[in-house]
This record gives sequence, structure tokens and C-alpha cells, in this order.
Amino acid sequence: MPHCPICLFTETPLSSSSCSLCDTPFDTPFDTPFEKPLDSPSISSVNSSILSRNSSSNSLTSLLDYLPPPPSTLTLGSTPISPYGIGTLPLSISYSSSGRPPRPSALQILQHAFKLNVGYIDTGDSYHPGDDPGYMESCLGEVRTEGVGQVIGTKGGMELVGSKSTDWRLRKFREGEVRECVEGSRRRLGVESLGVWSFHHCEGYGEEEFGRLVREAKECKEEGLVENIGLCNVRLDQLEFARSIVEIAAVQNQWNLWNREAEFEIDEEVGGKRKRKVGKRGVLRYCQENGIVFFPYGMFGGVKARYAEGRPGKVSVHDFKTVVDMAEEKGVSPNQLVMAYVRQKWNCVCLIVGCRKKERIDELVKIRDGLVLFTEGEMEVLDAI
Ligand SMILES: NC(=O)c1ccc[n+]([C@@H]2O[C@H](COP(=O)([O-])OP(=O)(O)OC[C@H]3O[C@@H](n4cnc5c(N)ncnc54)[C@H](OP(=O)(O)O)[C@@H]3O)[C@@H](O)[C@H]2O)c1
Repeated sequence: MPHCPICLFTETPLSSSSCSLCDTPFDTPFDTPFEKPLDSPSISSVNSSILSRNSSSNSLTSLLDYLPPPPSTLTLGSTPISPYGIGTLPLSISYSSSGRPPRPSALQILQHAFKLNVGYIDTGDSYHPGDDPGYMESCLGEVRTEGVGQVIGTKGGMELVGSKSTDWRLRKFREGEVRECVEGSRRRLGVESLGVWSFHHCEGYGEEEFGRLVREAKECKEEGLVENIGLCNVRLDQLEFARSIVEIAAVQNQWNLWNREAEFEIDEEVGGKRKRKVGKRGVLRYCQENGIVFFPYGMFGGVKARYAEGRPGKVSVHDFKTVVDMAEEKGVSPNQLVMAYVRQKWNCVCLIVGCRKKERIDELVKIRDGLVLFTEGEMEVLDAI
């Protein structure tokens, strides 16, 4: 007998388009580019054990309150990917007093990520210890496998001049250097075409100069050296400008509980008129509306949180009582709760969780497999942080 994936009611007639008990549509209509899953809706993978883990009471009413889980796939350019990925910065540089893992351990951790088919692996040509340029790209080149729905993305346009993540400096591209950078990454990663190549930073250029560089990246795409172009640390006006030249498939800006400006409205009322903001505000919303994948970096506070351990003030997700309490209720860690929350709220988000240990990948994969569901009320509580 068929049953509803939400309330598990077993007398649902096959011919019906929704559950006759709780009204859950079997094939939910989707409005925005990111709300339509490319494979079967992940809602069908939700089982009763997950539902009961998410609820202190097993009553039917509380189970019915859960929102459908987010789609299990999103589209990067024209490639379907799983929106659960890792960032390789903590494997590349000294991220805390205990330093970065040695190369053999880093390779093992990356292999674990490939084995578990994480959707996206984020790196950059500047992700390296002081004297070993291109280190992380070479590591990835050594162990990469071709996973289903899996992409490696890299970037260029920043330099690491020391061994810590506080030692970044903008690297301003001159003419021809975007292509050089792309060629170097292709060589180290051992691929014909880069899944995503991004400008690591969009600051420091005049419009004409930036336009020339974006056109250079576009040529690389047209020649098949790059599959998708992305922008990091980008303002809304720069994003719109770049899109007027070439398709931008991905954006990587900061998002975390401390800094949610990427979510907020794009426009604001100034003197009775709608005015477009030119900062980074609203970039996430813009991505959601325009079919661009948004990679939120530093979700757990990044390196600042690592170095600030033990200091007073909000430096970790553990400092948000609401998050800690809700996570405990659902039997997950506060970090896992934040991952599930941002995916639930923004369908265009692909997570890139900073990873230095194998178990971080396991924790991510549990979220991918639908460990956490939210009610509308819980979402409102988290939205209010
Ligand atoms: N485009 C850019 O300008 C830019 C800038 C910064 C970062 N990024 C990218 O974004 C990625 C993510 O940012 P990030 O690495 O700075 O910071 P992050 O994701 O905020 O934090 C990384 C730290 O969070 C911890 N963590 C991960 N999963 C956890 C879990 N389930 N429970 C508890 N702790 C967990 C890890 O700590 P442990 O060390 O204890 O495992 C890791 O060192 C980077 O790796 C990089 O690829 C891009």
C-alpha cells in the first residue's frame, strides 16, 4: 500500500495528487529555479525515524508541522550538483594553534570527501602554506575522482604572503593574467576544464578594467578551459555588471549568524524612492532570484572563530543559545543545525564547510541525508537571530 512520506498515512489512493490525511502534495509545484529538484524530491527519503528525532513528541500533529526538506540537487550553470560541499582552506593553511594537517592526512581527508561524494570542493590557487604555491590544488589533483553531482571549484586573485589566513593580500590581475591563472589551476588539478573558476575578489578595479578581465574569463569559458565563472566577495552592482558580460554561475560571499547582510532586501526606501544598494547587501537574495549558486563562506565564523576560542563574546555558534537549545532538542550539533537551517531557508545555497578533520565530512553528510527538519515556527525563531 502506498503511504504519505510525511504523515505515513497508508490508505492514500495512488491516483490522488495529495495525501488525503495531511494534504501533502506528492509532486509539489516549484516556483523559483532552485525550488525544483532535478531528481526525485528528497522528501521521499524522509523516514519516520528522522521525524521522531526531530520532535520531542511523536504525535501526528507535530509531525505534520514539518516543512518539506529542501531539494537535494541544485543547478550550477547547467550542471546538477549536490548542495553539500566542503572548503579546503583549513587543510591548506594554519587555522588554529594546532596548525594544518600534514599532506598525507590532508590527502586522506580529501579522499574521504570524494568517497562520500560531497557535492562541491572549494579551493583556490592561493590555498597553500607559505612556500608551496598551488599546494591544495595539487593535493586535489592527486586524489580527485569523478563523482556524480560533484564539482571542484577554484579561484584566483588573492595572494597569501605569510602562512596564516590573516596574511592575505589582493592580487590585481593585469591583462592576460586571468588566463595564466586558469591555465595554472587546470595543470595542478589535472583537468581539461575547471568546474568553476572564480575571481577571488572583485575590489580594486575600475569598471572598464574589471570588464576587460571578465571578458578574458569569458574567452576561457568559450574555449572550454572553464565550465562556469564565479565571483567572490562581490557587491551587487559588480555582480550585475559582470552578468551583463557573461553568465555568472556562482557567488561566494560571507554568510554566518554574525553577518547576514547578504540576505537582506536589495532595495531600500530613500526619501520616498526605491534605491538600489550598491554594497554586498541582498546578494544572496539576488542569487536566489536569478538562478545563481551562493556559497556562504565562514559559516562558523571561519578563522576568526578558531583563533578567538576561549575569548569572551560571540565567536562560535555555541554562543547562540537559541541554536544550542534547538540543536539539543533535535539531537544534532549546533553547527549541523546551522547547516540545515541555511539550506532550508535558501535553496540556492551550496554549503562549503571548512574542513580539517574527516568527521566534519561525516557530520555534513548526515545533514545531506536529511537528519534535520524544521517547522515554520522554528524557522521564525532562527530567522530572528
Ligand atoms: N572566497 C573567499 O574569499 C573565502 C574566504 C574564506 C573562506 N572561503 C572558503 O569557504 C570555506 C569555509 O570557510 P572557513 O573554512 O573559513 O570557515 P568555517 O566553515 O566557518 O569554519 C571552519 C571551521 O569550522 C569547523 N567545523 C566544520 N564543521 C564543523 C562541525 N560539523 N562541527 C563543529 N565544527 C565544525 C572546523 O573546525 P575544526 O578545525 O575543529 O574541524 C573548521 O576549521 C573555506 O574553507 C574556503 O574554501 C572562501
